Amino acid sequence: MSQNKDAFSTIDTPAVCIDLDVVDANLAKFQAYCDANRLAARPHIKTHKLPAFAHKQVQLGAKGITCQKIGEAEVMVASGIEDVLLTYNIIGQAKLARLKALAARCQLTVVADNQFVLDGLAATFADGPPLRVLVECDSGGGRCGVQTPDDAVALAQAIDGVQGLTFSGLMTYPPKGRIETVRDWLGEATHAFQRAGLSCEVISSGGTPDIWRAHEVSSATEHRAGTYIYNDRSLVVGSTCDWQDCALDVLMTVISRPTETRAVLDGGSKALSSDLYGMQGHGHIREYPAASIPMLSEEHAVVDLSACTGAKPAVGDKVRVVPNHACVVSNLFNSVHGLRDGRVERVFTVEARGLMQ
Ligand SMILES: Cc1ncc(COP(=O)(O)O)c(C=O)c1O
Repeated sequence: MSQNKDAFSTIDTPAVCIDLDVVDANLAKFQAYCDANRLAARPHIKTHKLPAFAHKQVQLGAKGITCQKIGEAEVMVASGIEDVLLTYNIIGQAKLARLKALAARCQLTVVADNQFVLDGLAATFADGPPLRVLVECDSGGGRCGVQTPDDAVALAQAIDGVQGLTFSGLMTYPPKGRIETVRDWLGEATHAFQRAGLSCEVISSGGTPDIWRAHEVSSATEHRAGTYIYNDRSLVVGSTCDWQDCALDVLMTVISRPTETRAVLDGGSKALSSDLYGMQGHGHIREYPAASIPMLSEEHAVVDLSACTGAKPAVGDKVRVVPNHACVVSNLFNSVHGLRDGRVERVFTVEARGLMQ
């Protein structure tokens, strides 16, 4: 990153800068880990929303990609991605019609955790090639998902009983820091499925916080990591990675120094999001690691310099902020700057940004 400083003077702010060497290293490390542990890699593209990076992930060996929204999947499939897991309950005629069109253009797998979703899928896919469906399980994360292994079996049986749908396995978005709970939940589920005479071709877990312990979920066949491509402050604070593994910075200019201990930057919640992720402060300033960002308004970040010894930033200086949560930042900018060897190698249009449906 240090030589990329040469490029910063040419970039207007606030702007997202991506260190492409760090991206390459992060992608290669995850793929190598999955290969070594016989896990299929299925990166979640909600972090970058860039077809170019999705293709890079597949070229490195990912089995396919994960998308959260149909709009994201449509962009990725239009760019030539062939295998997509959509980890979201799809509801309503408008979305189901788009899902059917999508399924005709790629190898598509979806999830369901309730009968209402299944009924919609069944009505839509009754007359075509079968759609692959995973049962979403709540292994402790407390979001979507059936609550017990027996509920998972019951929903799987319902899927198998429907013309046009194929039960293909289980999916969970695991709680952070509770790998044993996830392992035990999915292990119990595996036994329940054996007892019921059903096989799970895929058992899909995910997440970056516990990425290097993914192999401990012994029944999992694949891992969906998203944030690992960029990493962020939350993952450094949580000890998953270090600052040098963070690929995404928001470059900002100091626009005011109202007091000896205060600086103001030219980006606020519309550049960094207001996601605290359980931490204090709104990001890490690489040039002033002792500084904190206690307050954001929409277009201003207020920096507290009182813990900084030595030089302090001047009006007009540019600084790099590692955001708390990289994925939401990707959704806030139309384009991002890919940097390598001290220059802007490529400006990427964030093609899947803002696609909430
Ligand atoms: C269903 C699902 N899978 C995988 C991921 C990837 O998690 P992470 O960004 O921690 O890698 C997410 C993140 O929100 C998710 O919702």
